This record gives sequence, C-alpha cells and structure tokens, in this order.
Amino acid sequence: MKRSIGILTSGGDAPGMNSAIRAIARSALARDFDVYGIYDGYLGLTEGNFYKMNKGSVSDILFKGGTILGTARFPEFTEPEIQEKAVAQMKKVGMDSLVVIGGDGTYRGAGDLCKRGISCIGIPGTIDNDCPGTDYTIGFHTALNTIVEAVDKLRDTSASHHRCSVVEVMGNHCGDLALYSAICCGAEIAVTPEVGFSADEVIRRLQHFDAIKKHRHALVIVSEKLTDVEKLAEDISRATSFSGRATVLGHIQRGGSPVPYDRLLASRMGDYAIEVLANGGSNFCIGIKNDNIIATPIAQALIQPKDFDQELYDMFERLA
Ligand code: F6P
Repeated sequence: MKRSIGILTSGGDAPGMNSAIRAIARSALARDFDVYGIYDGYLGLTEGNFYKMNKGSVSDILFKGGTILGTARFPEFTEPEIQEKAVAQMKKVGMDSLVVIGGDGTYRGAGDLCKRGISCIGIPGTIDNDCPGTDYTIGFHTALNTIVEAVDKLRDTSASHHRCSVVEVMGNHCGDLALYSAICCGAEIAVTPEVGFSADEVIRRLQHFDAIKKHRHALVIVSEKLTDVEKLAEDISRATSFSGRATVLGHIQRGGSPVPYDRLLASRMGDYAIEVLANGGSNFCIGIKNDNIIATPIAQALIQPKDFDQELYDMFERLA
C-alpha cells in the first residue's frame, strides 16, 4: 500500500525548520510516498488543516527562517478526545505516518499518536538545545550566531563607556545558549540554570575585576527565567565601578536565515526520518551524536535527562 505521511512543526519556531520540511518532503516523494504539509502543528492536524505537497511546494525554503507550515503551542493535545479527532482527520485522507519537528512536548504528542496506530518520528527543532537524544537541535547554532553578532556590537559601546553589559539569552531551562555564547564572546561570567544564580557571587567576581583594574568593560551572560536582569544591572552599578546595562535579546534569537550547520543538520535528520519510516520504524526521535545521525525510541529519550556539559563550563571558567 502506498505510504502517506504528514509533516508538522510545533512549539517555538526555529531557524532550519524549513530546511527539515524540505528534506522530509523530498526524501518521501523520492520514495513515491504521498506527502501532506500540516499547518499550525497539532492544532492544524486536529482541524484537518493540511494540503498535499509536491516537489515544488518546498522549493526556495531551505534558507528561510521560521516555518512555512506555521506552528502553535497546543497543550489541549494531551486530551484523548482531541487526539482521536486528529487521527480521524488523518484517516480521511489515508495519512498513516507523521514526522513532527519540535521539542519534547512535540515528542510527547507523537508518542500518544503512536499508541493510536499512527507511525511517528520526531525531529529536534528548537533554539534551546534542550531535546533529549541529540547533541544538537536544529536552530541552536543559528541562534548562537545571532547572539554572538549582537554581543559583539554591545561590546563596542560597553567598552567605550566602562560598562558592564548584562545580556539575557533564551534557552528555556537549558543553559547551552548562555554557556556557548559566553565562550564565543569572551564573557566574564555565564549564569546558567544548571550552575545556578547568585547575585552576590556575580558582584563579588566583578569587584575582583575592579580590584585588579584590568577590565575596561565586562560581560555577563544570563540564561532567561533565572533573575530580573534590569535589577541585576542596577545592583552592579551600585556595588562596582562598572555602570550596569541590561539587554534582553528576546525573540530576535529565533529569527533569521539558518546557518549552514543547521541546514545540513536539518537535511540529514529529515532524510533519515524517512529512511526509518520506510524501514517500518515508528516512535523514534532523530538525533546527532558524535556527528552520527541516530534514532532513539521516544519513550527512552524522554526519560534521559539532557546532560549539561560540565567540562565545557569548567573550560569557560578557566578562560574567563
Ligand atoms: O522554546 C523556544 C523559546 O524561544 C524559549 O527559549 C523561550 O523560553 C520560549 O520559546 C518563548 O516562548 P514564546 O515565543 O511562546 O513566548
């Protein structure tokens, strides 16, 4: 029987999602599968908001930010009646499989649909790098690049004014964007959820830089959801010789054209997702480990905690 697969993106968008959509669609069409693009994640699936794709449907999207399919956060998808509705919509057009691109919430939805007889594969697409079963997620390297470009600009003005820039970056509850950007930007301090936040410790370390009088400016990178960076900047102004200024980079980090690493990662993962489906696999999430593309059972991945790279953090501390 001819296979028919749907593609959706769910959760926060990430640069490279379009590259993944293209790879999944082209790889499936090359195997003579029917392919459907589903709008707005699980919400669109439940509403039957999808269309049949051909090769041209995914032309000129490889390099575009965002997701041409749109995305949504749809917590209601945990409800059994909603899931049944989605399966009924798929059955109407004979769709038997789904490739979902998103984070761990997206994987949970896929796991639930597998229990209802749909073959599902998850692909990690989020700037946060917080997905289980992979070293890197699609979008992480582009967001990192965006942060580095922004901080390089902030440094110019910060150094001219003997200021301390406090920069808040995204990451949800994962400190990778903060740690990697701190290394790439030569920050003095990186504050991540894994290491924890103490305003006293940040100030003590900046006072040490004051004492050795070597720093014309300082940079503190803080992972979101840990503290109020405006208040931290005020505290720094009060307790050190630096004038503190806070910058919240916000959603700028989610936009932009994917860097080559993300385009390549998305292409490899998308193609592999279809290979797994074609070989009868289901309920797997795709990842990259030591530069090999792998598939891990979703249930197994979801109980594996995402490792924080303590060695990398220790290296950052030695170089700061
Ligand atoms: O998961 C991606 C992400 O950008 C997180 O870094 C951030 O915490 C969250 O999404 C923001 O969500 P929203 O765009 O819905 O405000």
